[in-house]
Amino acid sequence: MFSHRVPADHSTNRLSAAVEERRARGAPILDLTESNPTRCGFQYDESALLAALASPGALLYEPHPQGLAAARGAVAAYYEEIGSAADPESLFLTTGTSEAYTQVFKLLADPDDEILVPTPGYPLLDVLTGLEAVRLVHYRLLYEEPGGWVIDRERLRASISTRTRAIVVVSPNNPTGSYLKRGELEECNALCGDFGLALIVDEVFSDYGRGRDPLRVRTTAGNDGALTFTLNGFSKLVGLPQLKLGWIHVSGPRQLTAHARERLAFVTDAFLSVSAAVQHAAPAIFRQRAPVQAQINRRLEENGRALEDCLSGLSGCRVLDREGGWYAIVRIADELSDEDLAVRLLQEEGVLVHPGYFYDFPAGEFLVLSLLPRTGPFREGAARLAALLS
Ligand SMILES: Cc1ncc(COP(=O)(O)O)c(C=O)c1O
Repeated sequence: MFSHRVPADHSTNRLSAAVEERRARGAPILDLTESNPTRCGFQYDESALLAALASPGALLYEPHPQGLAAARGAVAAYYEEIGSAADPESLFLTTGTSEAYTQVFKLLADPDDEILVPTPGYPLLDVLTGLEAVRLVHYRLLYEEPGGWVIDRERLRASISTRTRAIVVVSPNNPTGSYLKRGELEECNALCGDFGLALIVDEVFSDYGRGRDPLRVRTTAGNDGALTFTLNGFSKLVGLPQLKLGWIHVSGPRQLTAHARERLAFVTDAFLSVSAAVQHAAPAIFRQRAPVQAQINRRLEENGRALEDCLSGLSGCRVLDREGGWYAIVRIADELSDEDLAVRLLQEEGVLVHPGYFYDFPAGEFLVLSLLPRTGPFREGAARLAALLS
């Protein structure tokens, strides 16, 4: 009766069951996994946003497979601001980045074709590939001391088969926070050229980098070494996921890009999914970028410091270096499994963190925390984590 794209088994894991049980009896939870910015106490310019969303243009239906020119112009202006030239003709608006992935998968892959995806990585990619009936094949990121996360280039090359259609890079990656580096981009371009692949780069966290590293790729919009789909959207860029505006920027060798754009327009024309209201509001929404990001960056730093303070001095336990993004990764002593620890932390201390296996970290040695929650509760949760670990 039902397609194999949708899993038959919807049973929950031990941690989710423990969360449900706690919620059912009304017990409080200090949620250190919260990454919904609209629930973390940031100030948005409400009147400017609501006025922009009430533009009279929202009452007109002007379908365009790539989205309204003025909205694409606002996205192109963002790329110009960060030092990259993006032609509005190369942009396709979508209802968020998740939809952007699915449109690109439809464009590139037939059922059972393969898409290479980083691990540890963003769990939703499992679901998104499955729903498009394409196969997800993992390539590894390695944590090196010093230096941090790097792509295991040998494994990446070895993972390519005759069914591979694309390499996905998340930069910075969720949850490792690691950016794509110039040398890695060159390697990806070369692999794409050698094996006829496309590059899909998810940059939703790219504005949240720490410090400066000249080797970091700021954006792949404009990369012409391979057919490249650069994805981003408002959910992280302005901390407004509910507005559901994302985009795909297409670049690469000229002829290939022209074919890709023509075919991608066929896909997006079948849906025309982005609302007029958010498209008309896009220029005003981009103006929220600086004030919202300043608040988020402050929070990430404060919570990062609180976590370090709480965990410093605990033997066998360490917060990994963070290059960017919204998450912290804690390496725990190996006599405890990540899941056991997360369940105990919730049941005994009322603190919710993610076990690393949710993100395919190996060997049960890692916990993943969002650095977005309000600082008071975050510090309290981190202190209780430290108490349990000690
Ligand atoms: C790496 C990454 N890409 C994409 C998304 C989804 O973004 P959107 O809300 O624009 O669909 C998320 C959401 O957390 C994410 O972490």
